[in-house]
Amino acid sequence: MHQGKNNSMVFYKKYKRLNILLYLFVKILILNSCNLNNFKSQMKSYFGSLPNGEKIYKYKLSNGYMSVEIINYGGIITNINIPNSQGINTDVVLGFDTFHQYIEEHPYFGAIIGRYGNRIANGKFSLNGINYQLAKNNGENSLHGGLIGFDKVLWSVKELDDHKDPGIKLTYFSENMEEGYPGNVQIDVTYILTKENELKILYEAITDSPTVINLTNHSYFNLGGESSGDILDHFLTINADSYLPVDKNMIPTGEIRNVKNTPFDFSEMKKIGLEIETQNNQLIIGKGYDHCWVLNDYGKGIRKIAEVKSINTGINMEVYSDQPGVQFYTGNFLDGSLKSKKLNKYKKRSGFCLETQHFPDSPNQPSFPNVILDPDKKYQTQTWYKFSTKTY
Ligand code: BGC
Repeated sequence: MHQGKNNSMVFYKKYKRLNILLYLFVKILILNSCNLNNFKSQMKSYFGSLPNGEKIYKYKLSNGYMSVEIINYGGIITNINIPNSQGINTDVVLGFDTFHQYIEEHPYFGAIIGRYGNRIANGKFSLNGINYQLAKNNGENSLHGGLIGFDKVLWSVKELDDHKDPGIKLTYFSENMEEGYPGNVQIDVTYILTKENELKILYEAITDSPTVINLTNHSYFNLGGESSGDILDHFLTINADSYLPVDKNMIPTGEIRNVKNTPFDFSEMKKIGLEIETQNNQLIIGKGYDHCWVLNDYGKGIRKIAEVKSINTGINMEVYSDQPGVQFYTGNFLDGSLKSKKLNKYKKRSGFCLETQHFPDSPNQPSFPNVILDPDKKYQTQTWYKFSTKTY
């Protein structure tokens, strides 16, 4: 009897201790989840001012593993930081640490490009019988929206706080005949960083009269790190059976040429530098790769269009898009005159771009997919850059 009482006391004490432990465990769990909710996944900080005094802000999207920084000038992606295979934070996009460098001359680092990404021959096109003349800012061509494209304007920013993934929505109103393009157009570009380490870019536009539109982002990536030298040792795959050869002014000839047995074949993973110096007429015209690939499976929604990896850092980037083309540009015109964030020089080929888009000069080439936006339609496209790190 006495023994029984003792046993039940021991059991009771153990039970009480267990209960306390359980209580503490649940409390820690709750506190932790509160901390996670309070974890600021979006941060806004002052970055500089325009000569007219307008303030430029940097918005940092973080998911606890990697981060993306964007400014309201040009919607420019200034930094993408991700741990390399040794856990060291690596910034994989070219850009600057100070704002004034972004208003000086630079080749569209990280910017939103529009109204028309890429080249329009002779800066001319006609739409519904009306001829339009754009500024020629690239020899005889109009390039990347003209003299003051979307890369050089101030965007208004809405921080998205729907408690899901961190994101911002940038909006710009482009007036009728701005840079020579018809129609008052409202453009929204949303950047979202998901838990799966995808930077999702969603592009939307509406117009009040017919116009042409082709939006993209002009980030220069270097998966070895923005100051690590050239990107020729990166491995690349592009899911495309053909590309668009260009004339001496970099305008597509209209031919859709098969990549088989040419240096343009990236259908299987290949080092970017492997054939870049080949005596190939198209590589000579482009001074390297600076061409639009005709992506497979256009019209089937968003699909994987490319993948790039750096063996040195283990950083890998997959690109997904619903667009028909991608301009793969190997930074052939970088010449060492711009200083990197670590104050090195951005020399030739120290970054590559994968600009998802419609084909260059489409407004003048009826055989290419249509780039006309009518008032009763909404322009909606998306591109995702998905990052991961491996040890090789
Ligand atoms: C073009 C290049 C150009 C670069 C910077 C790329 O999208 O294809 O020819 O030099 O942008 O302007």
